[in-house]
Amino acid sequence: MEASQELERLATNYALEAVRLDKQGAKGMAITMYQKAIETLLRLVQLYPDYNLNKVYIQRAIAYQERIKVLQGAIGPAEQPAENKEVVEGEKPAEAKKASYEDLIVKEKPNVKWEEVVGLETAKKAIKEAIVYPVQRPDLFPLGWPRGILLFGPPGCGKTLLAAAVATEIDAVFFSVDAASVMSKWLGEAEQNVARLFESARRTALEKKPAILFIDELDSLMGKHSSEVGGEVRVRNQFLKEMDGVIDKGKNLHVYIIGATNKPWDLDWPFIRRFQKRILVPLPDHHARLMMFKHYTSNLLLAPDVDLHELARLSEGFSGSDIKDVCQSAHLKVIGEFFESGQAANKLAKPRPLRMSDFRQILEERKPSVSLDMLALYNRWFEAFKAL
Ligand SMILES: Nc1ncnc2c1ncn2[C@@H]1O[C@H](COP(=O)(O)OP(=O)(O)O)[C@@H](O)[C@H]1O
Ligand SMILES: [Mg+2]
Repeated sequence: MEASQELERLATNYALEAVRLDKQGAKGMAITMYQKAIETLLRLVQLYPDYNLNKVYIQRAIAYQERIKVLQGAIGPAEQPAENKEVVEGEKPAEAKKASYEDLIVKEKPNVKWEEVVGLETAKKAIKEAIVYPVQRPDLFPLGWPRGILLFGPPGCGKTLLAAAVATEIDAVFFSVDAASVMSKWLGEAEQNVARLFESARRTALEKKPAILFIDELDSLMGKHSSEVGGEVRVRNQFLKEMDGVIDKGKNLHVYIIGATNKPWDLDWPFIRRFQKRILVPLPDHHARLMMFKHYTSNLLLAPDVDLHELARLSEGFSGSDIKDVCQSAHLKVIGEFFESGQAANKLAKPRPLRMSDFRQILEERKPSVSLDMLALYNRWFEAFKAL
């Protein structure tokens, strides 16, 4: 198979997986997969600039980018869906619910490698110690090892990406659920489905395959409404009970629970304490931003005036997601101009390299998505509850 066909197939697979996760409500993982589809499409365009389907690829990449923005916007206060919950409960579309449970099991590996997670050395090390090594050599850990790991920190800094990398690294069965969708789509059946989820994980582990249960947007399990529906409390208690089962009785089973949240302060102590390891996934510092600019421009054609150190300096306060977005937007801008100018019709013409001014223009149009106040909150929470 030609390399271009291979890349095209890859992009299609990522996109299909993204759409599936998206339908299921697993926003975080869906974003990761849309992102991989975009990267693959852009690499395709970069490697084969005179390919006649390129315009279609670019349009697809832009559409996925739009979808990511929508999903990111949707990952926020869960106030609004709460209104609909009772309605959903009343209707009970049993078939749809059953399907959504079966869909939970991510059978295909997310295919994210450790190297794709830039920086975050402390978090990576903690995760390796907590999961990867015990899975590889349980005999070296006679005192046991933690089963619950909480990743917390500002949005867009790699929590979901890290979980995906863990799943790829060890030959584990990866169950990914989005707590927000557990609460909104499963109401009425959420307790049973949570029990089934843990039961599937235990069965997998009994068959000598490690099971990782990834619960994204964990804070959604905390009812924040004064008029809390009884169901929410029951689901939360079911979770706590199941987690105890894993921590106490599952001593010889490889079942791990990774929780991720942007809002750790919403979690209550019963939840916090069951995650024996609590790992801050921070905003990238200067060096990490430099590495990210390197990573996200590695397949792009850059003009000699592009100074990645300067870009790292200009992007203080930006998340990994912001930086990736800057690089992709700069790239799409140049390619968009290329098509609009009609040059693409000439099969020998190639888009111009990206210049510093392209990056500057995009950087000027955006602000860091995490404020200083928010950062202080994360650090304060970390000081109070850290457990590395
Ligand atoms: N540390 C990082 N290294 C490389 N890419 C990153 C990093 N952090 C974020 N990104 C990019 O931003 C996207 C969103 O990150 P994600 O892991 O979903 O953040 P979070 O779960 O912390 O909100 C990722 O798919 C990736 O493209
Ligand atoms: Mg996430």
